[in-house]
Amino acid sequence: MDRKIKLVRIAHVYYTHKDMDRERRFLEDFGFQEVKRSGSKTYYRGTGTEPFVYCASEGDHNEFGGAAFVVESKEDLEYAASSLPHATEVHEMLDEPGGGLRVTFKDPVDGFPFHLVYGQTPTVASDAGLLQRKFNFPTQKFRPGNQFQRFKKGPAPVHKLGHFGMCVTDFAKTYDFYTSRFNFYPSDLVYDESGRDVTTFLHLDRGLELVDHHCFFFFEGPESHVHHSSYETYDFDTQSLGHDWLREKGYENCWGVGRHIMGSQIFDYWFDTSHFILEHYVDGDLVNSEHPTNRSKASPDGLHVWGPDLPPTFLQ
Ligand SMILES: [Fe+2]
Repeated sequence: MDRKIKLVRIAHVYYTHKDMDRERRFLEDFGFQEVKRSGSKTYYRGTGTEPFVYCASEGDHNEFGGAAFVVESKEDLEYAASSLPHATEVHEMLDEPGGGLRVTFKDPVDGFPFHLVYGQTPTVASDAGLLQRKFNFPTQKFRPGNQFQRFKKGPAPVHKLGHFGMCVTDFAKTYDFYTSRFNFYPSDLVYDESGRDVTTFLHLDRGLELVDHHCFFFFEGPESHVHHSSYETYDFDTQSLGHDWLREKGYENCWGVGRHIMGSQIFDYWFDTSHFILEHYVDGDLVNSEHPTNRSKASPDGLHVWGPDLPPTFLQ
């Protein structure tokens, strides 16, 4: 029996774009900060400690290049290299901000790349300037008198990569692979009319440590593709200011602003200039090993509790 490879957190994603000039403008309007350009690649960070969260490469077609997760030890990385499908050797990340070691393998069912990294040098978080805002409620007023809530228009700064999601062609096989080879554990499982599981939202089992409700999700469909990647931003005002900024710049909204049920995040989905979906989210749930897996039946009402109606483009 293979042992599980221990993942600590999601780190970054790779995308290739045909038109990098347009995409760079979008990524800045979305709230990423450029850290480095090297050859065809541009690296972006958030305001958290990850040295980069998004790598954009220029290429002749638009393509998702996979997500990277941090592993617990170098030994996990070595074990991954020797035991995962089509895995590379452990190699140094020579180009990437923060350096570190990496192994890339291929998803065994649909072949998309998946990266594991270790030993990156963290960067200094830059969100100290975002002060804890205080809110007033009808009978509880948290903001001292004679102080005012004032905001500046602009992009919603991305703090970190929170999760990514894939459409996969064989749910059961994919589920078996990720939950048996890694410490992915289902926060939610969603089944269809026949009772067969078709969607899952996975968190990282870190015992009693609280982690995001999901960092990876997938659902079954006829053709494998990335569904979206999602970035945490500071709070609802920041997210709404970011929404207005993207709308005023003429980008295409996909779905939002609304409140999800599984994971509870307030979501806001946008199409980038290559028509990939990127999400801003705030106020997601945390879980640990005391959270039992929640099972529910797929339904059109199962995805959100408020916000615009689910648009058909979200599920295509
Ligand atoms: Fe999401």
